[in-house]
Amino acid sequence: MQIPDIIIAIDGYSSTGKSSFAKLIAGELRYTYLDSGALYRGVTLAAMEGRCISEDRAIDETALKALLDAGLDLRFVGSGKEGALYIGERNVEKDIRSMEVASLVSLVAALPFVRAFVDMKLHEFGSGRRVVMDGRDIGTTVFPDAELKIFMVADADVRARRRAAEMAAKGEEVDLEEVKRNLLERDYMDSHRETSPLSRAEDAIVLDNSYMSFEDQMDWVKGILSSRFGASESE
Ligand code: DC
Repeated sequence: MQIPDIIIAIDGYSSTGKSSFAKLIAGELRYTYLDSGALYRGVTLAAMEGRCISEDRAIDETALKALLDAGLDLRFVGSGKEGALYIGERNVEKDIRSMEVASLVSLVAALPFVRAFVDMKLHEFGSGRRVVMDGRDIGTTVFPDAELKIFMVADADVRARRRAAEMAAKGEEVDLEEVKRNLLERDYMDSHRETSPLSRAEDAIVLDNSYMSFEDQMDWVKGILSSRFGASESE
């Protein structure tokens, strides 16, 4: 399927399958996929390891700001399933998906200077268009001029089961209730923070994928791409 060079912004609640969907779209359209959440997770991991977060979850903002100002080298290497986030030469893809990072990331992502840092990176990576990005504020703040905006929602129990299965597959032992608590807590914090909170852009199309397969979701987006951008399978 061929479509013009556009930005596709996928926002929504935690564990609604935004990144799986974005990767599928990127593969199908030969677009670049950018996972903005991975960047927030990368900053959180660097903050934890740089001792910018205390045991009682207080963030030393001065120390974290200094760490970012020193030029924290976050970048994506590879694409699709092989794509990974690196800090310098180190592949941190596994470390940024831990429960510990998940439990701190919304606190870090609420800081305006952290958001400015991640936005700068996203603009750097996404300057050529032909990108699909997923996050919480892509369609509202980072790329408000994105040509296609999708806002994903799904039932909380379905989301918790999906996330727990994903973590179990990676060998991480998880408690389903804890996973659900964490994602509801992140939903709340992400939607209530002062700087660019999670919210649906007025021109975003809502996708509830609670009971949809990946194939159903691809069919749904292909329908939109062909009606909006005249794309067709045979092109
Ligand atoms: O998509 P994810 O679960 O990997 O995102 C991790 C956290 O990063 C999420 O809880 C909120 C934050 N985030 C954000 O504030 N803005 C974005 N554009 C993407 C993620």
